[in-house]
Amino acid sequence: MARRGARPGTVTAEGQATDSAKVLAEDVGKVFTRRGRDPVRALESIDAGVGPGEFVSIVGPSGCGKSTFLYIVGGFVKASRGTVDYDGEPVRGPGPERGIVFQEFALFPWKTVLGNVAYGLARQGMGRAERVERARHYLEMVNLEGMDKLYPKELSGGMKQRVAIARTLATGPDLLLMDEPFGALDAQTRAVLQAELMRIWERTRKTVLFVTHSVEEAIYLSDRIYVFSHRPARVKAVLDVGLERPRDRERMMADPAYPVLHRKIWELLRDDGSGDGGPGDGG
Ligand SMILES: Nc1ncnc2c1ncn2[C@@H]1O[C@H](COP(=O)(O)OP(=O)(O)OP(=O)(O)O)[C@@H](O)[C@H]1O
Ligand SMILES: [Mg+2]
Repeated sequence: MARRGARPGTVTAEGQATDSAKVLAEDVGKVFTRRGRDPVRALESIDAGVGPGEFVSIVGPSGCGKSTFLYIVGGFVKASRGTVDYDGEPVRGPGPERGIVFQEFALFPWKTVLGNVAYGLARQGMGRAERVERARHYLEMVNLEGMDKLYPKELSGGMKQRVAIARTLATGPDLLLMDEPFGALDAQTRAVLQAELMRIWERTRKTVLFVTHSVEEAIYLSDRIYVFSHRPARVKAVLDVGLERPRDRERMMADPAYPVLHRKIWELLRDDGSGDGGPGDGG
């Protein structure tokens, strides 16, 4: 039974998971080993949960293990210790219900915008007409209607990232794993894409696990924020954002709760003693 006051999918202070988590990670550790090299301890012991429809972000120092954790949830990397459950079942590999958006846009340069978005659908066995219709639907959702025939080299960074998001959404995942998807964009484009992502999230109510270096971005987008320690990462804190939705950047900035939360996260990141590689605030 879920505890009173605890949200579904969260892990309580006592380390107990509540009911109906979409993603539930318990005691997840990761050591990378390679012959002839010292092992790299990337994750110490991560307990984390994401409830259905929740937007959860991870912030932490550079190199602390955020991407590694996301890849473990995605099933691309195997944990050395602990378990990750998705909808109550252990994650054993990648699956169509978990879609990932990488920082590097990773588009096929030889395929058009439409071809890139439709690619995963062909692999799912969908017929051509349906693929095209579906790809167009998601291109419209990310404000790229009419751009079908362009090639990636003809697109700006923001447009490429929109294509990457449309491609992931088109395959119909329930959970979106996003690894600093806006990290390579200028501040203005980034703000536009953040707002678009918010609109899509509010419309589709996908569950999102989002990695970012930007504290502002994490606050603007999230219901909850996990602050990871330096490598090997542990969860330093889990913070409820609690700002009203739908969010508006100016209203958020004017809310007295915003600077308090912002400072708190910075302090958590700062007293980490991790030296270099602190977060930047590109939001
Ligand atoms: N495949 C791998 N083999 C060996 N070491 C790896 C591998 N992948 C990641 N690492 C190491 O694990 C640690 C965590 O890396 P990870 O990419 O998860 O960090 P991160 O928090 O995402 O960093 P950033 O914020 O810079 O993206 C780093 O020391 C990295 O060098
Ligand atoms: Mg990373």
